[in-house]
Amino acid sequence: MSASSGAPDLLVKASSLTKVFKRRRGLLDRASDDVHAVSGVSLEIVRGETLALVGESGSGKSTLGRMLLRLIEPSSGSIEFDGVDLLGLDSGSLRKMRRRMQIIFQDPYSSHNPTMTVRSIVREPLTIHRLGTRAERDERTTELLTLVGLKPELAGRYPHELSGGERQRVGIARAIALEPDFLVADEPVTALDVSVQAQILNLLLGLQEKLGLTYLFIAHDLRVVEHVSDRVAVMHRGKLVELQSRIDLFAHPKHEHTRELLASIP
Ligand SMILES: Nc1ncnc2c1ncn2[C@@H]1O[C@H](COP(=O)(O)OP(=O)(O)O)[C@@H](O)[C@H]1O
Ligand SMILES: [Mg+2]
Repeated sequence: MSASSGAPDLLVKASSLTKVFKRRRGLLDRASDDVHAVSGVSLEIVRGETLALVGESGSGKSTLGRMLLRLIEPSSGSIEFDGVDLLGLDSGSLRKMRRRMQIIFQDPYSSHNPTMTVRSIVREPLTIHRLGTRAERDERTTELLTLVGLKPELAGRYPHELSGGERQRVGIARAIALEPDFLVADEPVTALDVSVQAQILNLLLGLQEKLGLTYLFIAHDLRVVEHVSDRVAVMHRGKLVELQSRIDLFAHPKHEHTRELLASIP
């Protein structure tokens, strides 16, 4: 906990974040088009909250989420993480900071190395950061599997031997291995069956409470975030068009595009 002055305890503060990708027009064409994936987005994420980020496919959600972790370098703008200027960090300091921020991907199948067992996938961050002895890492790995509701017997299996829900649990175990403060969950249930979606959402909620996590929860569907968010930010064509508490947003959507997203919920 940082010193409190009565102001909300900010974990992440993004100011005027912009990302312009250069896209080559074609194989033989040297010229490129600018893709304005994210344009001038400012937002704050309070410690312990879930901020949902919604918007249709291509609206810039993943680009924004990855910029907040500096997995994509912004074209301009600034990011503070726990009061530290993230874009000013050298690679050594960034590496240390990275332990505190992790990402969960949409498709846990393509994001896991198919030749690694569940145990080695979950243990890898501990190994990379050289934490503990080998025995301690194995013990921690078992603890992590239990924490995400997987039987330790699954440790020797490969990703293709698991169900979609189990694979996503492996991704979550790996993401929390280093005890991060901040998790970007990029459409973590989009690829799953509806019945499994609820289980994974409940797991994420439980872990948030247990571990004091702060979430940026990305979804293209407002339905999913109705159950997991404190506040909701809506993106449209790279811009943030609305940010309200979940209750206010569902009751009184301000932006036309938010109303369209709400109307598309069956
Ligand atoms: N590496 C890249 N190079 C070029 N364009 C990209 C790249 N990544 C994303 N884009 C483009 O940026 C826009 C936003 O993409 P993205 O952030 O993935 O949106 P979302 O996650 O909301 O679907 C899209 O038009 C996409 O095609
Ligand atoms: Mg995306």
